[in-house]
Amino acid sequence: MNLPSQLDNIDPNGVAVVRSEIDSVRVTDLVAEFGSPLFVFSEQTLRANYRAFSSVLCSNYAKSQIAWSYKTNYLAAVCAIFHQEGAFAEVVSAMEYEKARKLGVPGGRIIYNGPFKSKSSLADALQQGARIHADHGDELNDLAEIAQAAGPSSIGIRLNMDTESGARWQRFGFNLESGQALKAAERIASLEQLMLGGLHCHVGTAINEPRAYSIAVRKMLEFKYQLEERFDFRIEYLDIGGGFPSKVLHTDPNGLGNSWADFVAEIAQGLEGGLRNGDEPTLYLEPGRSLVDTAGFLITSVVGRKRFRDGRPAYVVDAGLNVLIKSWQDYQIQSGEDSSGRLLPSKIYGPMCMDIDVLAENVLLPSLHRGCPLVISPAGAYNVTQWMQFIASRPAVVLIGREGSIEQIREREDLSDIERRELLPDRLRNGLGESIA
Ligand SMILES: Cc1ncc(COP(=O)(O)O)c(C=O)c1O
Repeated sequence: MNLPSQLDNIDPNGVAVVRSEIDSVRVTDLVAEFGSPLFVFSEQTLRANYRAFSSVLCSNYAKSQIAWSYKTNYLAAVCAIFHQEGAFAEVVSAMEYEKARKLGVPGGRIIYNGPFKSKSSLADALQQGARIHADHGDELNDLAEIAQAAGPSSIGIRLNMDTESGARWQRFGFNLESGQALKAAERIASLEQLMLGGLHCHVGTAINEPRAYSIAVRKMLEFKYQLEERFDFRIEYLDIGGGFPSKVLHTDPNGLGNSWADFVAEIAQGLEGGLRNGDEPTLYLEPGRSLVDTAGFLITSVVGRKRFRDGRPAYVVDAGLNVLIKSWQDYQIQSGEDSSGRLLPSKIYGPMCMDIDVLAENVLLPSLHRGCPLVISPAGAYNVTQWMQFIASRPAVVLIGREGSIEQIREREDLSDIERRELLPDRLRNGLGESIA
């Protein structure tokens, strides 16, 4: 076995193998106070990411508005921070719509996407002035029916198109090239109470090709003008979705890094080439991962140590694929305690009692003791919405404030959270105690 020879805390890729603090708070202190595993969010990074993205966007096209993609992370505290920064809400289900409203977001500042929107939530959203993006013909029928009672209403449609990029999502919205989108617009034009006021397209997620966005914007603008000439529509906005990778992920297959500015420059180029004189539609963007990913950390602790026959160490830790959605990306795994010594390629197992629960095959780490915390990042996107309660309850979440405050923003679950909705019929209670005894 080829062991690396480093004795310091940097692996051959220049990544620190130790991260003993998050925003100047010691990882061991966080574990002592809130237990392990634990999700930690940095308010400073959340706000800094938002401001950086928003300023590069608005300096390229002033009439831009960010809508925070709830499904990426709908912890109330995270959403509230983005709303304080000025974000609209982008939601994709009745539950998310309700959540945004409960947080106090007015309907007029909500973008409602998604392939399944319940009819009652559509009725609420239409009445409350949300921007609704129809995904399919049956939803158009629902909207037509709702508008019959509600009166004249403006809606948008979601488009899918060939952006000459790796992502060729066709399952959402109406296809542009096949004429399906035009047919949807014709249908809306034929309905008395509905108008088409916006076009939406989300190219895909974690797109590494900024050029996809100039292509999408150009195609959307061509379609906008085609519709405005043909029908009595005024398309007031374009929504080009999210899909921008987070900074840490920001490497294309050739190892060249893209930045947010590269994506925004492509969007601006698409607008410049496609906008007609004097036309200035509002531009919505729905970033998710790019705003939140680097602000989130998962702390997990070593609960058991193993060694393979070849001498390679392996560790069992207390968080695994139950709370970390591994399919999305590679994470950095760092020791949460100052430690030095030879770095060894180590395997990290989660607690799930399933063979697939492996967090890392060969991560370079110093020798870890039982109880040693590990810090996994970037972990802010999708994990705290897609996490599950498989054999264990979900961990607590804390927020480190800008002034160093440490606030719990979600309590650790326990068995009562899992049992709360369960019903045990009386007839099945009989003899339960005895059989256990
Ligand atoms: C419609 C829509 N908007 C925004 C997003 C956010 O995407 P991302 O987190 O890749 O920015 C998604 C995610 O798939 C989406 O489906």
